[in-house]
Amino acid sequence: MITATTPGKVILFGEHAVVYGRPAIAVPVTQVRATASIAEGRAGNGTTILSTDLARVVHVRDAPADEPLAAIVRAALAHFNMPDPDANITVHSTIPIAGGMGSGAAVSASIVRALAQFLGRDLDAAAVSALVYEVEKLHHGTPSGIDNTVVVYARPVFFVRSQPVQTFSVRRPFTIVIGDTGVKSPTKIAVGDVRRAWEADRDRFEALFDRIGSIAGRARAAIETGEVERLGPLMDDNHALLREIDVSSDALERFVRAAKEAGASGAKLVGGGRGGNMIALADEKTREPVERALRAAGAKGAWVTSVE
Ligand code: MEV
Repeated sequence: MITATTPGKVILFGEHAVVYGRPAIAVPVTQVRATASIAEGRAGNGTTILSTDLARVVHVRDAPADEPLAAIVRAALAHFNMPDPDANITVHSTIPIAGGMGSGAAVSASIVRALAQFLGRDLDAAAVSALVYEVEKLHHGTPSGIDNTVVVYARPVFFVRSQPVQTFSVRRPFTIVIGDTGVKSPTKIAVGDVRRAWEADRDRFEALFDRIGSIAGRARAAIETGEVERLGPLMDDNHALLREIDVSSDALERFVRAAKEAGASGAKLVGGGRGGNMIALADEKTREPVERALRAAGAKGAWVTSVE
């Protein structure tokens, strides 16, 4: 049995503005992951994909064009210029669905990698990322490409749309606590709403995106120089701007407040927003109280991860 695994991710700084060409910083989260296993299937049956999380089977041959699980298989086969093989793929993910943690991109990446191995084809990270990006367009119309990039490269990235991926060094590791509101919020909807608001008032939104992009730039400098204490206020500022572009929610506000009251030095929503997950900057002393506070606030999941 061939198996491929891909981590989840969070965006530390810069979501939404990154769709409009500003920089953003994202890191992998290895505590959650998507796994795809592949084995020989029944002759003549073509490829089937069993999603254990969604409790459904997709037959690639019969699935509609916008079915994301079938779409990634089709994209990979077109890339290899190969016919649909008789294969059974099983997908399982512990990444919250529609929670801003890259679940769609990670599932696609694992499927591509497992299929490539099954077919005896080599694929480098850039090729996997490009294939996953094609399917990300089905998940949310105008993706920046940051999700596929960070989960496929599985390292911290400083990302600017349409530019080669930039990695950077983390001078001093730091700890973030992730809290899941449990509210499913498809990225496509939040990204679409922001686009409509931007179309209605471009000057205001461009100025907000500039400020978010500038925060991402300053955060990168602080991470590279090890001035971790500067990151908390930058997270707070980034969250305030995300609130201004109307992608926060009551639950996210409650979680951010709970984390700060428990000692986090900064906190913000992550990804598309309106639900899904948030992060808080913590340290050795505050990580447990922050995690407890998030669970007490109703978190459906909480993870502590080190960025290094
Ligand atoms: C989604 O994880 C991040 C967004 O910025 C959308 C994107 O970059 O494609 C909201």
